[in-house]
Amino acid sequence: MATLKLLAISGSARNGSLNGRLLAAASHAASSRGAQVDTIDLRSLALPLYDGDIEARTGVPAGASSLLEAVRACDAVLIVTPEYNGFPTPLVINAFDWLSRLQATGERPSGLAATANKPVGLLAASPGPLGGLRSMNLLRQYLQMTFAMIVVPQQFALGRAHEAFDEAGALNDPKAVQSVDNVLRSLAHLAAALRPG
Ligand SMILES: Cc1cc2nc3c(=O)[nH]c(=O)nc-3n(C[C@H](O)[C@H](O)[C@H](O)COP(=O)(O)O)c2cc1C
Repeated sequence: MATLKLLAISGSARNGSLNGRLLAAASHAASSRGAQVDTIDLRSLALPLYDGDIEARTGVPAGASSLLEAVRACDAVLIVTPEYNGFPTPLVINAFDWLSRLQATGERPSGLAATANKPVGLLAASPGPLGGLRSMNLLRQYLQMTFAMIVVPQQFALGRAHEAFDEAGALNDPKAVQSVDNVLRSLAHLAAALRPG
């Protein structure tokens, strides 16, 4: 079977982020099953808050093109995001909003064409008991309805995430390991089924 190219994205870029830790644990699990994992740091894309005047003046920032190329190059995307007041973080939404503004040029597809039919898996982590569950459901809707991405049904919200990792960054609870694995497995199956040829 061809190597799965997985693009890993965290909705929190802060130092010590719990979602960053969950992303790292999931990436490690995916790599040990043979996936090639590329991580994109949304903060490094330096995307300003979406502003139509910026777009009119200077066009869509280069960071959005970097995200487009990363999405285009992968077989599947894994997004691990906190919830802020029940919503996915502005970091994630803003990046995808800018991506949606990219029009096709020459050989490069538009932002929305690059995301269409791309498999996505969702994870979330929070110190709270629900682990960010509400934001995942909204993110699922956003990615499916607008970006035509195919979000796998399995998802996992890691509650009490500040107590969930050992010193090496591994998840303590075997049930949590299994839940992350279920998302990764489903993502790999879907990506393999959609691979051309
Ligand atoms: C503006 C804001 C809103 C938040 N809202 C929620 C929330 O609705 N549900 C929740 O479980 N945690 C909420 N939190 C707490 C975050 O889950 C917590 O800060 C978490 O550590 C953020 O993820 P990170 O560690 O990956 O940066 C909120 C935090 C902030 C800063």
